[in-house]
Amino acid sequence: MIDQIYRKAVLTVSGQKFVENIVRKQGWGLAQRFVAGEEVDGAIAAVKELQTEGILGNLDLLGEFVASPDKANEFADKVLHLLDAAHAAGIMPYASVKLSAVGQGQTVDGQDLGLTNARRIVGKAKGYGGFICLDMEDHPRVDQTLSQFRTLAQEFGTQHVGTVLQSYLYRTEADRASLDDLKPNLRIVKGAYLEPESVAMPDKADVDASYRKLVYAHMAAGNYVNVATHDESIIEDVKHYALAHGIEKDAYEFQMLYGVRRDLQRELAAAGYRVRAYIPYGRDWYPYFSRRIAERPANVMFVLRGMLKG
Ligand code: FDA
Repeated sequence: MIDQIYRKAVLTVSGQKFVENIVRKQGWGLAQRFVAGEEVDGAIAAVKELQTEGILGNLDLLGEFVASPDKANEFADKVLHLLDAAHAAGIMPYASVKLSAVGQGQTVDGQDLGLTNARRIVGKAKGYGGFICLDMEDHPRVDQTLSQFRTLAQEFGTQHVGTVLQSYLYRTEADRASLDDLKPNLRIVKGAYLEPESVAMPDKADVDASYRKLVYAHMAAGNYVNVATHDESIIEDVKHYALAHGIEKDAYEFQMLYGVRRDLQRELAAAGYRVRAYIPYGRDWYPYFSRRIAERPANVMFVLRGMLKG
């Protein structure tokens, strides 16, 4: 409950325009702990650096909801450029995309623009043997994101497109089961948005219990799971569950955020687990940075100390 109150307070304060203006002006140095650069070159360099430690990358061009079709198309073009750049650098293009950033919810020529742009992106990734994960955003977008994921999975195959489920939502257990026919590659997260109690569990213990349940159910159904968490006790439990149920190490992977628990990322990779870091980059880093700060009280002190120094 305290975690919930803390998160709500940080996300509410960071949503104020004047706070955003101050942090945007003074905070880039601090944001670099979590963001690999403002341009694609920085992100590619980060992937290469992590590769030397046996850690894979998941590239993410930062950007959230845009209201104009032109901006959505422009953003999608930048993601295509990212895939080209990764391929040219000898990296298998693996990237995450928020459908709201490429036009989800805007109808153009009778089609949802988010889906049209996602087709361009997943199609290009498939051509390079790559993979696109559709990030999950706040709860009003879940239905449409899952339905668009289903469409894309049927058109391009689940080796090339996956999505995310959030354990804090009451609906997620049923959503997971409803996707089983696709044998989907899913990333399981706890959930990072400010959600009302009518849709999301307010208690962290329930969110954690739901997380374990989702991962185990997805593994038991024979599907590939991206265990995306920094929670060491969950990571230990998942390792034990897999071992006890004969689930091989190549049937799942651990995913963590760039700049968070690098020690644990290295340790797991050295022990032979597949580990992938989520590597965000781009100029629109503020909302992503705010969510990272909201995840951990110590991170607020990190920001305040940095701003006072700066
Ligand atoms: P929890 O918050 O319980 O933290 C576990 C431990 O990790 C604690 O010790 C904590 O201090 C430490 N920790 C967690 N976050 C930290 C941080 N920012 N800095 C330092 N320490 C930290 N969410 C979403 O809604 N949609 C999405 O698509 C995604 N995608 C995604 C991809 C990947 C690869 C990851 C790892 C996470 C996401 N998330 C997400 C975010 C996710 O929902 C969640 O907010 C964070 O992962 C934090 O929760 P943990 O599972 O780490 O547990």
